[in-house]
Amino acid sequence: MPLTRREFLLDSAGTTLFASAGPQRKQRSNYPFRHGIASGDPLTDRVILWTRITPALETTDSELILRYRWLMATDVALTQVVRSGQGQTSAQRDFTAKVDVDGLSPGQTYYYAFEVDGHWSDVGRTRTLPTGRVDHLRIAYTSCSNFAKGFFNVYKELAKRADLDVVLHLGDYIYEYAELEDCVRTGRVNEPLKEIRTLDEYRTRHACYKRDKDLQEVHRQHPFMVIWDDHEVANNAWVGGAEQHSDADSGDWRQRLNGAVRAYLEWMPIREPDRSNMGIYRSFRFGDLVDLSMLDTRLAGRDRQAETLAERDRNDRTLLGFEQESWFYSQLVNAQQQQITWKLMGQQVMVAQLGTNTMPINYDQWDGYPAARQRLFDCVRQSQVDNFVVLTGDIHSSWALELYDDPFAEGEATPLGVEFVTPAVTSEGIANQTRASLAASSVQALLPHLHFVDFYYRGYVLLDITHERLQAEWWVVDNVASHRYSSDCLRAVTVEAGSARLQDAVSVSKAKASAPLAPAFANDLAFLRRWQPVAQDSSEQMVAVHSEGAY
Ligand SMILES: [Fe+2]
Repeated sequence: MPLTRREFLLDSAGTTLFASAGPQRKQRSNYPFRHGIASGDPLTDRVILWTRITPALETTDSELILRYRWLMATDVALTQVVRSGQGQTSAQRDFTAKVDVDGLSPGQTYYYAFEVDGHWSDVGRTRTLPTGRVDHLRIAYTSCSNFAKGFFNVYKELAKRADLDVVLHLGDYIYEYAELEDCVRTGRVNEPLKEIRTLDEYRTRHACYKRDKDLQEVHRQHPFMVIWDDHEVANNAWVGGAEQHSDADSGDWRQRLNGAVRAYLEWMPIREPDRSNMGIYRSFRFGDLVDLSMLDTRLAGRDRQAETLAERDRNDRTLLGFEQESWFYSQLVNAQQQQITWKLMGQQVMVAQLGTNTMPINYDQWDGYPAARQRLFDCVRQSQVDNFVVLTGDIHSSWALELYDDPFAEGEATPLGVEFVTPAVTSEGIANQTRASLAASSVQALLPHLHFVDFYYRGYVLLDITHERLQAEWWVVDNVASHRYSSDCLRAVTVEAGSARLQDAVSVSKAKASAPLAPAFANDLAFLRRWQPVAQDSSEQMVAVHSEGAY
C-alpha cells in the first residue's frame, strides 16, 4: 500500500530531524495519537482538549509517565499561538490526556495540536461559546453509535459540515454487548470480543471505537457535548442496576458502574464533574439565543423501571433524581427570566406519550414515569417557559412531536413545547423499509401529537436556530453497511418562536459563514522546525498532570 504524504514525510524527515528522539519513531505514522484528538464542553472562555497517548508498548506499568505538550492557535497553520502548555499522563488514566484550556475569547474558532517526543498529532478545530446578542446558531446532534452494526458514515457527514457551532451526542456512544453476529456481518470486530463488565474492558472498548477514522474525524473538526445513556454501562440501566445485569453473572453492580463511568470520563472530551453522585448533567448558554441543559436520565437518580401500572403511577418516582429535577427547573426558569429565546433540553429517552395513559408501550421512557413528566410539564406551564424544545435519542428512529399534558384528551389544547428525536448513527430501527413505512403510518394514525416519524434511516438532526424560528432537519444516510453511501435531508420541520406548533419547512436551511475545517496534517517541516521535542522523563512519579488546568 503506497505511503501517505504523512508517512513519506515522517520516514524521510524522521531520519534527519528526529534521530535523537529514540527508537519509537519508526512505528505507525499516527503514533502515538492512534485514538485521535478531540475537544468538548466549550464555554465562553475555555474548552476541553483530549487525546490518548499510546505508549510504545501497551503497558499497565504505573511507573511509566508520558509527557506531552499542546498548543492552541487562531489559524489552521498553528502560527498564531494563543495558548500552550504541557502535561503528563500515566496508566492511572489509561494514558488519556485532558486539558481545560482557558483564557480564550467567546465565539471564536481555534485550532490545536498535541506533541509527544517530536511527534505531532493532526490539527484539531474547536469553538468557544458566544456571548451577548447571537442571531444564528447551527447545532447538530445524534446518538446510538454501535461499532459492530456498521460504518460511522453519519460521523463522516457531520465532519464535513464546517458551519456547526457544536455537536451533541445524546448517549449510547459505545455499546457493552459482544455483538458477535454483527462483528462477523460487518467485519467491524469489537474489542474485547465479549460483553464488557470491568474497568479494563470498558477502556478497551472505548479505545476500539476511538480508532475509527470517521469518529476521529468528527471529533477533530467539532467540539462535542456528550451525555451517556444506558449502553455506556448496560442496557436499561438505572441507579441501582440494569435490566440484563445480575450480580451473580456480571459481578457487583457498583463496581461495574464505577468502572464504566471512570472509563467514560477518561476517554470522552467532557469536563469532569466535581459532584459526588456521578452527576454529569450540566448546562451551556449560547448568548441570548439558546440555553441548553444536557440531562442524565440514567445514573444520576433514575428509579427502576416499573413492572405494573400501579407502580408506574406512584408520584414519588423519578427519572432524573430529585436533585437534578430541581436543578433543571431552576435552569429553565432562569433562562426564561433572562429572556433567552430557546430553552433546549438534551436528554435520552422519549418524553412525549408513545402509549396511552392506560397502555404505556415502553416503561423505560418517560411514559414509565408519568408523575415525573407531569412535574416537568407543570414547571414549564407555571413558569411560562416558552420555546421549550426537547432533544432526544435512544429509540433509533426519527420523530417530531408536540408536547401536551394529555394529547389524547378531547378538545383543543395548547402544546407546551416540541420534541425532536434523532435517528441513530448505526443502531437499527426497523431494517426492512416496507415494514418501517407500514409501522410509521400506523403510529401516525394513533398519535395525534405526532408530526413525523421514520423507523428506517440512520442519521442526525441539524438545528438551524434564529430568534424568529427553530428549524430541525433530519439528515440521513442510505446505508451503514459500506463506506459507499449517499446522504440527504429526509425531512425539515420548523417551530416559530412563541408557537410550540410544528409545520413543514419550505426548504432546508442555508449554511452560515464559518472558519475552515482543520487540515489533516500537523507535521510539516516548517512547523516542526519551530518546535523542539520534549524529552520523556519517566523518573517523576505523577498520576494526574500538573498545573495548566490539565487532568
Ligand atoms: Fe441506543
